[in-house]
Amino acid sequence: MPHETSFETDLIPAPLSAESRAEAPAYAALDERTTLDAGPGTHDTARWLRATLGAATGLPLADGTGPHAIRLRISADVERELGAEGYRLSTGGFGDGSTEGSAVVLEGGGPAGLFWGAQTLRQLLGPEAHRRAPVAPAGHTWALPALTVTDAPRFRWRGLMLDVARHFMPKDDVLRQLDLMAAHKLNVLHLHLTDDQGWRVEIRRHPRLTETGSWRARSKWGHRASPLWNETPHGGFYTQDDIREIVAYAAARHIAVVPEIDVPGHSQAAIAAYPELGNTDVIDTTALSVWDTWGVSPNVLAPTDSVLRFYEEVLEEVLELFPATLTPFVHIGGDECPKDQWRASATAQARIKELGVGDEDGLQSWFIRHFDRWLADRGRRLIGWDEILEGGLAPGAAVSSWRGYAGGITAAEAGHDVVMCPEQQVYLDHRQASGEDEPMPIGYVRTLADVYRFEPVPPGLAPEAAAHILGTQANVWTEVMENRARVDYQTQPRLAAFAEVAWSRLPAPEARDLADFERRMEGHYRRLDALGVDYRPPAGPLPWQRRPGVQGRPIEGAPPIV
Ligand code: ACM
Repeated sequence: MPHETSFETDLIPAPLSAESRAEAPAYAALDERTTLDAGPGTHDTARWLRATLGAATGLPLADGTGPHAIRLRISADVERELGAEGYRLSTGGFGDGSTEGSAVVLEGGGPAGLFWGAQTLRQLLGPEAHRRAPVAPAGHTWALPALTVTDAPRFRWRGLMLDVARHFMPKDDVLRQLDLMAAHKLNVLHLHLTDDQGWRVEIRRHPRLTETGSWRARSKWGHRASPLWNETPHGGFYTQDDIREIVAYAAARHIAVVPEIDVPGHSQAAIAAYPELGNTDVIDTTALSVWDTWGVSPNVLAPTDSVLRFYEEVLEEVLELFPATLTPFVHIGGDECPKDQWRASATAQARIKELGVGDEDGLQSWFIRHFDRWLADRGRRLIGWDEILEGGLAPGAAVSSWRGYAGGITAAEAGHDVVMCPEQQVYLDHRQASGEDEPMPIGYVRTLADVYRFEPVPPGLAPEAAAHILGTQANVWTEVMENRARVDYQTQPRLAAFAEVAWSRLPAPEARDLADFERRMEGHYRRLDALGVDYRPPAGPLPWQRRPGVQGRPIEGAPPIV
């Protein structure tokens, strides 16, 4: 092997199997002769390979068949064996007949499987294949080990939730995050678009949602108990074309984008924009502004017909922006709705009586059921945080189980679909080490190893209920993440461990091979370096990653399993 050659077989997430092809040369290489032989249904992946590997290698990757081709096919056999997201990748043929006369054969069970296989191909080419322009000297050999990789995901929902409400994430950073998700074979981006501290999506019919609701005068610096403020005004929102671009960019990477419009709590930014949305018989809602600190605001939506109509009008535009092509799900939040204003409101109390729903929890349930029906009538499915179980779950609803496993277990046993994202395990805003120098430390210590040992299916769940666990999601709440670098720091490298939990068929947590994962991470850090990710180094934060003197809210001890 020439000394400039390096290749990588330490894949993350780990595939089902990767076997050496003893009959093939020990390694093969991409060079000027390499072509793309793209069969029907493979054009998204061909475009991605040409754009991404083409940029990193400087190779033309022109269309063409023959012994130097990367052959891309959709295969009914692979679909039967591995499903639509499965793939088989054989490298190292070079015309010896063993890969059907091509250098590389990549077959997907469907277009998504093919795309995940292309991610594996890039990992096999080494860290340099993750850059946007060639860095190697002329004559560098883009080597591939001779392997057959057979692979398919464990879960069909492999999600990341980004809170773009507490701190706005500019569109370009969202597109980059989609690239990082694709590199980890994650396939659902849940965008938390609205909260007390900001409204982030343009709604043409109600322009003040972004004119007023998308910015705040200042922000709490650190946990809400911190005495510090960042006095720089903060804001931003996605225009409707920005959203279309994000959704299309995601779709080309086989990632579904699930929008979240959080109701009836977490709504102060909307009320600041349109005071009539609030409980006007309890407080002077015209005096509210977009919230500048963290926590759960008591200012929630009024349970009136006009509020329902307003949000239907919002959702009509949301449905247009987020077509059902990749996912029918629309997230309506439903979490953390304090009931004090409803208890004090004559209007809300009259509503409870009129509807015969008993109490404030019943009123919240009525609110959520309304949108469950409304979405179902339009061919969509509601998903909400596990509080939507309180007062009775709407018939077609799915649940994001965040307060632990319990809500997800109840929902799954009742036949509802569930995404497991317990805060004790996979909230990536929680600190990742116990040291004093973790920036604005929040919550429990959840190390890379802890995330690696997360199990999305609660032990003991009956198989019929377990079949309702659609998958799992890591959630990134951004109160203390003021920019992309902070999001990178909290998210990586733990997202790599999470991706393996979501994709790979790992054994029970206590039997997982952490040492092997950590060994493979050594190569993965080099990929993250090439991708320009500001991850947390294993030895701890770099000086500029610290936030000395800014108060967090660490929780001591191990998280309870609830
Ligand atoms: C949540 O963390 N409030 C869903």
